[in-house]
Amino acid sequence: EAAARLLLLLSAHQLFFSCASAVDRSQFPSSNFLFGTSTSAYQIEGGYLEGNKGTSNWDVYTHKQGTIRGGSNGDTAADHYHRYMEDIELMHSLGVNSYRFSIAWTRILPRGRFGDVNPDGVAFYNAIIDALWQKGIQPFVTIFHYDIPHELDERYGGWLSPEIQKDFGYFAEVCFKMFGDRVKFWTTINEPNLLTKFSYMDGWYPPCRCSKPFGNCAFGNSSIEPYIVAHNMILSHANAVSIYRNNYQGKQGGQIGITVSARWYEPFRNTTVDLLAVQRAISFNAPWFLDPIILGDYPPEMRQMLGANLPNFTSKEKRKLQATKLDFIGLNHYTTVYLKDCIFSPCAVDPIDGDARVVSLAERDGVLIGEPTGTPYFYDVPHGMEKVVMHYKQRYNNTPTYITENGYAQASNHSMAANDFINDAGRIHYIRGYLTFLASAIRKGADIRGYFVWSLLDDFEWTSGYTQRYGLYHVDFKTQKRTPKLSAGWYRKFLKGSLLTR
Ligand code: NOJ
Repeated sequence: EAAARLLLLLSAHQLFFSCASAVDRSQFPSSNFLFGTSTSAYQIEGGYLEGNKGTSNWDVYTHKQGTIRGGSNGDTAADHYHRYMEDIELMHSLGVNSYRFSIAWTRILPRGRFGDVNPDGVAFYNAIIDALWQKGIQPFVTIFHYDIPHELDERYGGWLSPEIQKDFGYFAEVCFKMFGDRVKFWTTINEPNLLTKFSYMDGWYPPCRCSKPFGNCAFGNSSIEPYIVAHNMILSHANAVSIYRNNYQGKQGGQIGITVSARWYEPFRNTTVDLLAVQRAISFNAPWFLDPIILGDYPPEMRQMLGANLPNFTSKEKRKLQATKLDFIGLNHYTTVYLKDCIFSPCAVDPIDGDARVVSLAERDGVLIGEPTGTPYFYDVPHGMEKVVMHYKQRYNNTPTYITENGYAQASNHSMAANDFINDAGRIHYIRGYLTFLASAIRKGADIRGYFVWSLLDDFEWTSGYTQRYGLYHVDFKTQKRTPKLSAGWYRKFLKGSLLTR
């Protein structure tokens, strides 16, 4: 009996390790595939008054009382402005071959196109790019990740005005000119679809305008605003791409794309109305931006539901979109939710997907869609990765795609210490699961070219401040000490191809 018990124990042990090692580096293309970590300027840099930087919308917003959980701001953040060499060393020790980061518009052009290029800002990113290359790490640069010069909001209303197209084009061009000799991967805008919702529908992000009754602000603006903002973002993107194509790509030989937030949705019930709700929610998600950019116009579901509230592209604009096809798509994928129809079935309007008249739910028959994570509404649903990738593969004719973000947050408060975060089994489970299903999508023919974990470090998580920790490395925000979590060790082993095998 003892022998039988030992055998049972051994096979359980084996089962555990074979599950634990279900994915490994060899399941991904061996050459040119990018594996990295992802960050953004405002979330990690700090140094907000240093190097002649201008004031951004987030500097102004976070300095107002009551805007950020815990009353924090990004003035110091993870102090990457002073510690970038140490952080690049951390990346090197992980064994990544790429790093996705963004350029603070206000460091390069403190006053947008109404002032000069700031040499200190240029020097800062030059130093990062050079240090990355010294370690063999490919820079993967986001031109705009939420922080716009405050002056542009003040002068003409920022993204609400078509003027922004000139400013964005100008900023992008300065980036190509200054860094394009060494940066071969550019994305224009990070998650324009979520940014537009958070800033112009729900009022959670600056400039905090609401077009929905349940938003974060007492006033309601015209419900048309989010669609005007999106239109300006799409045309700004097209402007930057055409500048790159016409004047830089030939000489510099890089590629340019855009990164969108890409959720996945499962129907709550197996009914036609819920399946239609899923289609609507998808259209109002990434295709709101990707359809016009890749296919030339907004998704039909949006046109149907929004009618005249959705702007039209003039024939000149359509020609511009046609001429500026993407080199690649960046997908940020975190989670999947169930969706229930809200047009034919009465239900409460949903804060995230309400726009498509759907309600998202986490649970069906008392069973959660996945394990909760430290971010509200985000669940660990690994198979969603394969579904989302296969959907966009089909929708956009297998355009080359990078998973520009995927990650897991730990909820945090002041009384918690580093040790509470280091043993991050939940994050390892999450990343391993999502990579397993990404590998499966690749086997099914999806043209996936890279994967980036959000994030290298714990950082400033926008309105959640420092209460959600996404890092592979823990940051003690008092001392700025970085400590690897277990997931950093897991990622390192995965990249080395030395995870425990069967
Ligand atoms: C999306 C955004 O790009 C990033 O800024 C944010 O921190 C993460 N996802 C996590 O919410």
